[in-house]
Amino acid sequence: MNAPPATALPVHRAIPQAQGFDNTIALLEEGYRFIGNRCDELGSDIFGTRLMLRAVVCMRGEAAARMFYQPGRFTRKGALPPTAMASLQGHGSAHVLDGEMHRVRKAMMMSLQSPASRARLVALAEAGWRERFERWPRLRRRVLIQEAQAVLCRAACAWAGVPLASVEEEVMRTAEFSAMIDGAGAVGPRNWLGLALRRHTDRWAREHILAVRAGRPTDPESPLAAIAFHRDADGEVLSNADAAVELLNVLRPTVAVARYIVFGALAMHGYPEWRARLAGGDDATLEMFVQEVRRYYPFIPAMGGRANLAFDWNGLHFEKGDWVLLDMYGTNRHAGTWPDGELFRPERFAERPGSGFDLIPQGGGDPALGHRCPGEAATIELTKSALRLLASEIAYDVPDQDVAIDLARIPALPASGFVIENVRRV
Ligand code: HEM
Repeated sequence: MNAPPATALPVHRAIPQAQGFDNTIALLEEGYRFIGNRCDELGSDIFGTRLMLRAVVCMRGEAAARMFYQPGRFTRKGALPPTAMASLQGHGSAHVLDGEMHRVRKAMMMSLQSPASRARLVALAEAGWRERFERWPRLRRRVLIQEAQAVLCRAACAWAGVPLASVEEEVMRTAEFSAMIDGAGAVGPRNWLGLALRRHTDRWAREHILAVRAGRPTDPESPLAAIAFHRDADGEVLSNADAAVELLNVLRPTVAVARYIVFGALAMHGYPEWRARLAGGDDATLEMFVQEVRRYYPFIPAMGGRANLAFDWNGLHFEKGDWVLLDMYGTNRHAGTWPDGELFRPERFAERPGSGFDLIPQGGGDPALGHRCPGEAATIELTKSALRLLASEIAYDVPDQDVAIDLARIPALPASGFVIENVRRV
């Protein structure tokens, strides 16, 4: 006799529920640890609760990531607080598209990330670092987050085909991108500042799109040209507003890589033996270190998705529209995947094949088929090159400062931004 078909239970009835009617305040108070704290308390990698009065399923771990990143299963539309969405990828971007529209737009975004294009970006950033290394010995103290953001902003703009004309412009654009990144996880003034500046940056990006569309000569290989003349799956070019949004969506996250550079510098300070190893410039060593930086340190806490269709998973039934939050921070440290995950240990990446769903600071699965970040390789290369240069071309002192990382503040950073002084050329 055939066994009767297994009946999956409605997810909200079948999983443990977190205490309290709504946990929005707890989320704001606990930040990166919100999902992990409840998973630990409930002894479950999945639980239900309410956030902003909406029912949500929170999950962590490799299996949850594999389920979440099944192509086409979850849309990002209506899955993130509007304030975060507006400061991050923005309305009209690839991030909020689905199906064929997403596939075609994403292919264009990925075409900007060829190895040759990445190498050009890294070379521009390296030139920026070396310019600063010339100047720093004459200056008393530098705050690394500010320096890294400025180096990356200038490099990203030159790479994309919108070079910055003056130091004033560099300062302004860097401040705008940095405020958008910093405001994305906030509620209140920090978020409003990001949004206010975003309007200014949107205008600037739109002027560039209009200018190339009106015939201003530009490198046809540049991201600016690719975005301005891209045709979506419906055969239409992007509106000026959406093209500006996508231009910012390659510039702003490149500036965001500064946070990994700062976390990497903090780790080099904490583990000086690694500083010496990175100075040697061996690529495999740099790769291990940077992967551990991306695994260990907090950046994007979680990703939201709303089910595009009804489906069953592990005996649970999800309805179309169900809201899910995948804990990225918690998955990167999950004890089932990462023994001693709370320790910083780059060796763990020596000859580790990876499953595509175990290390997910920038999403999981195949970036061409889903929403995984197309800029991951660029992020890794920019961080590797910056840490190699900081370790091998200069020496510096690290004065007493508060480098504590507040896990309730999203996005997190060492409080001081990592101050260095007495810089010498090596
Ligand atoms: C600090 C470095 C970065 C972090 C932490 C980061 C993180 C992420 C995350 C978490 C997502 C969303 C994944 C999802 O929806 O499931 C994403 C998407 C995206 N990222 Fe990144 N990213 C970084 C750097 C970059 C860079 C350098 C670029 C481009 C130059 C980039 C471009 C994008 C784009 C266009 C998307 C939308 C993809 C889609 O929806 O299909 N990111 N990123």
